[in-house]
Amino acid sequence: MKKLLIAACALLAAGAVAAQTPLGLPGVPVPADNPQTPQKIALGSLLFHDVRFSATGDVACATCHAAEKVFTDSPLSVSEGINKLTGTRNAPTVVNAAYNKTQFWDGRSPSLEDQALHPFLNPVEMALPDHGPILEIIRGDDNYVAMFRDAFGIRAANITMDEVTKAIAAFERTQVSGNSPFDRWYFGRESDAISEPARRGFAVFLGNGRCVSCHAIEQDHALFTDHLFHNIGVGINDIQDKVPQLAHAFQVAKNQGMDVDVAVLSDADTSHLGRFAVDDQLSSIGGFKTPTLRNIAVTAPYMHDGSMKTLREVVEHYNNGGVTPADGAVNAFLSGGIKPLNLSEQEIDDLVAFMESLTSPQFEQTSGDSVAATSGTGE
Ligand code: HEC
Ligand code: HEC
Repeated sequence: MKKLLIAACALLAAGAVAAQTPLGLPGVPVPADNPQTPQKIALGSLLFHDVRFSATGDVACATCHAAEKVFTDSPLSVSEGINKLTGTRNAPTVVNAAYNKTQFWDGRSPSLEDQALHPFLNPVEMALPDHGPILEIIRGDDNYVAMFRDAFGIRAANITMDEVTKAIAAFERTQVSGNSPFDRWYFGRESDAISEPARRGFAVFLGNGRCVSCHAIEQDHALFTDHLFHNIGVGINDIQDKVPQLAHAFQVAKNQGMDVDVAVLSDADTSHLGRFAVDDQLSSIGGFKTPTLRNIAVTAPYMHDGSMKTLREVVEHYNNGGVTPADGAVNAFLSGGIKPLNLSEQEIDDLVAFMESLTSPQFEQTSGDSVAATSGTGE
């Protein structure tokens, strides 16, 4: 009897976890040393929204990753930090970042926990001199002290950035979204969940468009990324003449201890070097992490530099063989997977319709227009 009860409880528990994983997504990977708990998640949410952890006291993680903008700062091309200082890169959504094998466009951070250390110190983001002021604010705030005690069983004096980043990461791991019309059609076998153009677009995505070779789909889930880095001709095409000089200067400075985090977010040309800044391989020049395509219709603009405003522009760029405008020059490090596609106007429209079917229900109200109209509140 007791055995049966335990078995039943185990089944219930498994069912509860499965119910939390939306259609089209795998289970959320959680590191063994940072299990999800309600206390930690609530604390992480508070930290994520706290503007006091910035040099000017008015920039939080949520300033650039706002819930009402699908955790981005759409429609900005590149993010604005303290004193409206601009960086060089477009803020990726935090939604589904829990599945990323590496964080940032160039993958320079290995985990959500590590990633959360960086923005606090970046001079164009939150610009603190070090993490000290964060711990000082937390230790002097009764509410935080109580919440850290509940989440980690720790006393005020013992709170470190380890707990701060674990709580933020735990909160981020709750921001997952699937169950899009595409998921209901493809994984849920709901035959009329997506339109006819979207279905045709999916065929192009798998076929002539060859999109799926990088924006991967598995048998029982789809993250739309291969977790690898590719040069698809964005930004780097325009600075080709400078690349040898730029790459050399970067390596010299890096060997002398330059802060890579600061360099890639403060100089646009350096930013375009992409994955090279992390792995020092010439073949990685201009290479960026394949981003997910989930909720893509509501997170414009696109690419690491936010240089493309519409999904149609993106598809035309691929159709041209990794170059915009069509008669521009392609860079020498372009990925072998990027070739002119010869798609018809209808196939281009269909691909866009397919990508529009990847919006999860909770973000459906966030049409491109309403994103643009939402004013930044710093929340
Ligand atoms: C000033 C705007 C800004 C602030 C503030 C900011 N971010 Fe970001 N975030 C960005 C930009 C821009 C990138 C991409 C940078 C890059 O790739 O080099 C990014 C990348 C990320 C990523 C990686 C996502 C991916 O798909 O690779 C995560 C996760 C993230 N931020 C979480 C946070 C957290 C947590 C905080 C607060 C501690 C924060 N951000 C503060 C703008 C911001
Ligand atoms: C060789 C790998 C590869 C192939 C093939 C590929 N992509 Fe991409 N895709 C990427 C990479 C890498 C980026 C980011 C590049 C950058 O920011 O410089 C990207 C970016 C995008 C973006 C912008 C995402 C964002 O968050 O800004 C969209 C949309 C997109 N791709 C759609 C497609 C479509 C549609 C196809 C097929 C026509 C396709 N991709 C084929 C690798 C690929």
